Amino acid sequence: MAELVDALDLGSSGIIRGGSNPFTRKRSIMLVYLETFGCQMNELDSELVKQQLKNNSYKFVEEDKSADIILVNTCSVRDLSEQKVLSRLGYFKLLKDMKPQLIIGIIGCMAERKKEILIAYPQIDLLVGPNRLYEISTLLKNIIGISKRTKQVSLFNIDRKDSSLELLERMDLERLQDIENRKQAYVRITRGCNKFCSYCVIPKTRGFEIHRNKDAILYEIKALVEAGVVEITLLGQTVNHYPEFHALLKDIHDRFPKLERLRFMTNYPRDISDDILDVMRNSSRICKYLHIPAQSGSNKILKLMNRGYTREHYLALIRKARSKMPDISIVGDMIVGFPGETQEDFEQSLSLIEEVQYQNLYIFKYSPRPDTVSFRKMIEDVSSKEKQIRHFKMLSLQQQISLKHLKNQLGKIVVILVEKALNAKLYMSARLIGRTEGNDVVIFQGSRDLIGKIVNIRIEYITSYILGGSFVSEFKNDHSYEDHKKTSQD
Ligand code: SAH
Ligand code: F3S
Repeated sequence: MAELVDALDLGSSGIIRGGSNPFTRKRSIMLVYLETFGCQMNELDSELVKQQLKNNSYKFVEEDKSADIILVNTCSVRDLSEQKVLSRLGYFKLLKDMKPQLIIGIIGCMAERKKEILIAYPQIDLLVGPNRLYEISTLLKNIIGISKRTKQVSLFNIDRKDSSLELLERMDLERLQDIENRKQAYVRITRGCNKFCSYCVIPKTRGFEIHRNKDAILYEIKALVEAGVVEITLLGQTVNHYPEFHALLKDIHDRFPKLERLRFMTNYPRDISDDILDVMRNSSRICKYLHIPAQSGSNKILKLMNRGYTREHYLALIRKARSKMPDISIVGDMIVGFPGETQEDFEQSLSLIEEVQYQNLYIFKYSPRPDTVSFRKMIEDVSSKEKQIRHFKMLSLQQQISLKHLKNQLGKIVVILVEKALNAKLYMSARLIGRTEGNDVVIFQGSRDLIGKIVNIRIEYITSYILGGSFVSEFKNDHSYEDHKKTSQD
């Protein structure tokens, strides 16, 4: 099974001889420290890697210094994401200098994208791309216990017919063995992306779009709900691009009445049908929450980005969503300083933000990524100083809008899912943190028993863009809506 892909043209085996430190391993249980950068998809991948390694008798530790193996799940979406990992690698090298038998693995998007460079780092033993994560335990076995270290590389060759899907799929399903006490979970519905926005590396690192089988998704959700999960977030780069997505949403909602909250992200503005909005409106436990990035408010820039929609189309969609669900939370992403973005284009982004009134907005400075169209074909004509200024202006505007939204919540009773306690486990009463269905973060003082429950909180104050309040009562979902009465698998 451990077919090593020589996407690097490393010779027929894909194995590079290297590392001069002979070592033998005495301990039978290996301790792993796993660090995760990037998006929700990476968080899910890390969970699956953890599961795979636990099934193979590895143990996980919270501290890098006590580990035998350090794995870093990486992100390539912006240069800054990669720089963070590179600086961690410097530190891990120091650890390895002190402990030469330490194994260091880079997994995820950066392993895929920066393979030629990373392979030369002496401290790195293992490189595994996002579509090969199922091979980690086999590759580690190849490293552990042998005296002459060989670098293990397993990457995805996007141009080749690939047979890894079944093995990847198995990883998603194997997680079910380790879900005790979990209240929230991510479930992937689509891998990869086909949109090829001109600035984005994801189609290169994660490959073409592949939708998971609906039965596998339902099977996974059933097991999660039976194990006590009450909130599921469906993941996909363009989640709403899943065939008949509205039917999938409705099916999940109707089949699992014990699932208190269903979310999905990230949405692509072009494929949000009326059917999807109607299912959201009519299904009480689907969160009225849409993460739907515009990226720019200028039609010229949207075209250069290859986004496939216009400002007018985007705004019409937001208006339609709000007309169907007046309380819906809209969250977006914006890029400032894309090649060709003039002051006027930037102001159009600001005016779009004013018009949409995002509850929350993720703002990024354009980062040219090698191998993308914008990198190869466009001139980066916005200076980094100007990007900084635009970023700051956009952030200030959004902060005013977010604050206005939060002030509107003062005095109201909101419904939240309690996620965790913020302070150490000394007393039963703790500072608890949770989220509303619109993803507002709320803190309050309450009993630890409430973790994992849905509760009513009266909002009394705002602190650093977080709502604070006091406990009112537990929320009782009486499942009395028509759509709750549908088939239950209980
Ligand atoms: N699938 C998601 C995008 C994932 S990347 C979607 O379609 O929205 C997350 C966000 O990072 C993007 O929405 C975009 O705003 C930002 N981003 C992606 N590539 C970037 C780049 N090269 N420079 C700056 N920001 C970028
Ligand atoms: Fe990237 Fe665009 Fe897909 S931002 S992930 S190519 S939708």
